[in-house]
Amino acid sequence: MTRTAAPAEVRKLSDLLEVSQTLGSTLNLKTALHRILEILEQSHGTVSGSVILRDEDTGDLVVEAATGPSAQAARQVRYRVGEGITGRVVQSGRPVVVPRVSREPLFLNRTGVFPKARAGKEEELTFVCVPVKVDTKTVGALGVSLAYDKERNYDEETKFFGIVGSMVGQGLRVQKLVEGERRRLLDENSKLRLELKERYDLRNIVGNSRPMQQVYEQVAQAAPTTTTVLIRGESGTGKELVAHAVHYGSPRAKKPFIKVSCGALPESLIESELFGYEPGAFTDARAQKKGRFELAHGGTLFLDEVGELSGSTQVKLLRVLQEREFERLGGVTPIKVNVRLVTATNKDLETAVKEGSFREDLYYRLNVFAVYLPPLRERRPDISLLADHFVEKYAAAHGKDVRRIATTAIDMLMSYHWPGNVRELENCIERAVLVCEGGVIHAHHLPPSLQTAEVSGTMPRKSLDEALASYEKDLIVDALKTARGNRAKAARLLDSTERIIGYAVQKYDIDCSRFRA
Ligand SMILES: Nc1ncnc2c1ncn2[C@@H]1O[C@H](COP(=O)(O)OP(=O)(O)OP(=O)(O)O)[C@@H](O)[C@H]1O
Ligand SMILES: [Mg+2]
Repeated sequence: MTRTAAPAEVRKLSDLLEVSQTLGSTLNLKTALHRILEILEQSHGTVSGSVILRDEDTGDLVVEAATGPSAQAARQVRYRVGEGITGRVVQSGRPVVVPRVSREPLFLNRTGVFPKARAGKEEELTFVCVPVKVDTKTVGALGVSLAYDKERNYDEETKFFGIVGSMVGQGLRVQKLVEGERRRLLDENSKLRLELKERYDLRNIVGNSRPMQQVYEQVAQAAPTTTTVLIRGESGTGKELVAHAVHYGSPRAKKPFIKVSCGALPESLIESELFGYEPGAFTDARAQKKGRFELAHGGTLFLDEVGELSGSTQVKLLRVLQEREFERLGGVTPIKVNVRLVTATNKDLETAVKEGSFREDLYYRLNVFAVYLPPLRERRPDISLLADHFVEKYAAAHGKDVRRIATTAIDMLMSYHWPGNVRELENCIERAVLVCEGGVIHAHHLPPSLQTAEVSGTMPRKSLDEALASYEKDLIVDALKTARGNRAKAARLLDSTERIIGYAVQKYDIDCSRFRA
């Protein structure tokens, strides 16, 4: 290398650096290619340039980017592989140089870069075309024209443009990988969404007792609207299942369903989970983070165990519900969201309001449409349906051939009081499926907690006192239900006094608030 040549070499290197930075800076290939052609024009003196790529579907060569006097027209051009000079470069994978374009019959001049009038005159042009390869396959070509100069070192030029061509190939490779991954994720995503929709369809909620039919009706009413839904019921009664059914039965089914377990997160975390934060909002906040409210945009936000929210979070939540906007922690820009809110709790919110641990205004905002899930012991007909459903589910999951539940075992399931509701029943059946052999679940496959005196036959049947007590409790619960939890009214219905009812409520540990919804 001579001393005088050095600046030209440096210039080439800096051009190459710029080309590689351009490719690395964006995933929009067209923009990057256009920018690269501009770099070549500005610092390498090309008159025109184009990048032509093979269309994967038709096999034709299509202009991806073009610069120069007739770039506009050039972008519409299509070639076949093997056709013209560009076609030959793609076919052979080797560069071609045409020192004087006007003397080359193969030169199709499809792009119109070289007007006939200019050919043969002092404006003679040189055309350099190099392959663009991904791995070892030629997928296109980079073609540039330069002012004809008989002193020009064609080898050097071809080498330089060859490097640019292979950089473009690298860029394409990365883009293909990213695009492939993106498509795979999209496919997987839509498959998972479909699965979710099927899984949480209302039809998958088992049970046809009257109280459950009422639940189905309520879900069907609420789902198509944007009403805020409050789901209540003891632990394990299926509140989360219903929350999903509300979302997947709504026009928002294709949008996100985002859940936040308010009870599981410490107070310091819950607000950053809900609203997100800006960098520097607190010591660990390095980058910006979107909150669940933002992630649920267009869809449904499910706040589980909403009764556990702290006072300060309740205030913030109330504000979002009233104004439909909020700021990220440490941020000042208000963010507008379109979110449907579904909440659930097993807590007695009315008492919490009375005691001052739950804000009354928030309570009214959340309790717009209430769905109450009755405990399993109040819908006994569902027990056997659910048991069969879980036998089928876990037999399939564990690959066991379990067909049915023996009568004695069914009796046990029916007479148990299920404090853990459907979740407890589900766990109990899964365990039974695992331990049973011979395809039938028998009484001894059920956990000890279910082996009541009656069923296991080790104790005499219910005493008269026990039977009367259970009858009395049933009557009182029924009356309270009709009276929506009002003891005075229930007392009148039973021709009794409020004092006696109050005493029985205490004795049988009846939760009156359950009937208020
Ligand atoms: N009607 C039903 N049909 C089928 N499966 C049900 C039904 N109800 C509940 N389950 C199942 O029981 C389990 C508990 O239900 P879920 O998680 O919805 O209860 P939950 O009310 O949210 O309880 P918690 O208050 O403890 O969070 C889940 O595995 C759910 O699929
Ligand atoms: Mg739950």
